[in-house]
Amino acid sequence: MASLQLHRVVKRYGTTAVVHGIDLEVKDGEFVVFVGPSGCGKSTLLRMIAGLESVTEGDLLIDGTRVNDVSAAQRGLAMVFQSYALYPHMTVYQNLAFGLENLGAPRAEVDAKVKAAAKLLKLEALLERRPTQLSGGQRQRVAIGRAIVRDPTIFLFDEPLSNLDAELRVQMRAEITALHKRLGTTMIYVTHDQVEAMTMAHRIAVLRSGNVEQFGTPLELYNRPVNRFVAGFIGSPQMNFLNARIVGASDAGLRVLLDAAPTGESQPPLPIDGSAKTQQRVMLGIRPEHVAIGPTSGPALALTATIERVEQLGAASFLYCALGGGERLTVHAPGQVAFESGTQIKVSLPVAETHVFDTDESENAFRRR
Ligand SMILES: Nc1ncnc2c1ncn2[C@@H]1O[C@H](COP(=O)(O)OP(=O)(O)O)[C@@H](O)[C@H]1O
Ligand SMILES: [Mg+2]
Repeated sequence: MASLQLHRVVKRYGTTAVVHGIDLEVKDGEFVVFVGPSGCGKSTLLRMIAGLESVTEGDLLIDGTRVNDVSAAQRGLAMVFQSYALYPHMTVYQNLAFGLENLGAPRAEVDAKVKAAAKLLKLEALLERRPTQLSGGQRQRVAIGRAIVRDPTIFLFDEPLSNLDAELRVQMRAEITALHKRLGTTMIYVTHDQVEAMTMAHRIAVLRSGNVEQFGTPLELYNRPVNRFVAGFIGSPQMNFLNARIVGASDAGLRVLLDAAPTGESQPPLPIDGSAKTQQRVMLGIRPEHVAIGPTSGPALALTATIERVEQLGAASFLYCALGGGERLTVHAPGQVAFESGTQIKVSLPVAETHVFDTDESENAFRRR
């Protein structure tokens, strides 16, 4: 078990910086997920932590000790990759034992550790098989087992489930979460999949272009995204973003007028702080699951939308709508709905669920009350 600290960690390849001074602290025993789009620097960051890439600038601390110059082997971490990289000519047992044998561990100790890991991962019946005789999920479990036998202080996972089909991913997600509960070891898990991040992490670091945009619990990110990027990245379908302008700010909250709403209609204030310059242009955010069809009991912004496409999932329905002025609105309605394409509907945007973002480059969120 170990904690991890990053102080202004920079990675440059030649003159190109791909990680721009990241500060991050992972607590002992925590499950932290790095999530972000492809190419944002997740693997680079993880490989620097593992010791597989040098740190260009800044400090990397494990349990308070600077490890920038400590070799990968001596950091006491174990990494699991997307490609399992199992030895095809070896049995599961041999694959699990190989690393320890290489380190010169006594045979009895190797055997005990391999058997304990196999038990934990339900691989006991498969120990004499070769990788080609295993399913994708079983192979991934062997890869995790190889990390477990090394008894690392921190587990590092780089997109370990990306090669598995959807059903297996859900199952392995649960297995890795359960494994973390049993072992209690610090885990850092990289994925581009926000659902994996939301379901597995204690805390999520959202990365974009080599920067951490936000570091928080899944629900902090969902409820209080700090900017439009995080708001759009977390949640599926994506949060709706609607053009608006501020028409007033007071103790009652922020008053905005949506471009897509009929002018003059009186709209309730949003429970959002803003030292608003009147007429300032903003982006109003609302998640598809918060848009109500018809009126709601609480205060809400009202809009008329034209349904363009309906997706029926059985348990829920997605309505893809057009608003005036070419804007779009996605509605996630619970259950089944009986709307035809082309139908006009009234929708309500409950003010308690709205977000407001700057339209400048920062796209920062206004503070929600
Ligand atoms: N060895 C390298 N040399 C130059 N650029 C690299 C190298 N490795 C990665 N990069 C660049 O660093 C950025 C981050 O890559 P990576 O960490 O692999 O992203 P992610 O894992 O988030 O998809 C990318 O733009 C990638 O092209
Ligand atoms: Mg990667």
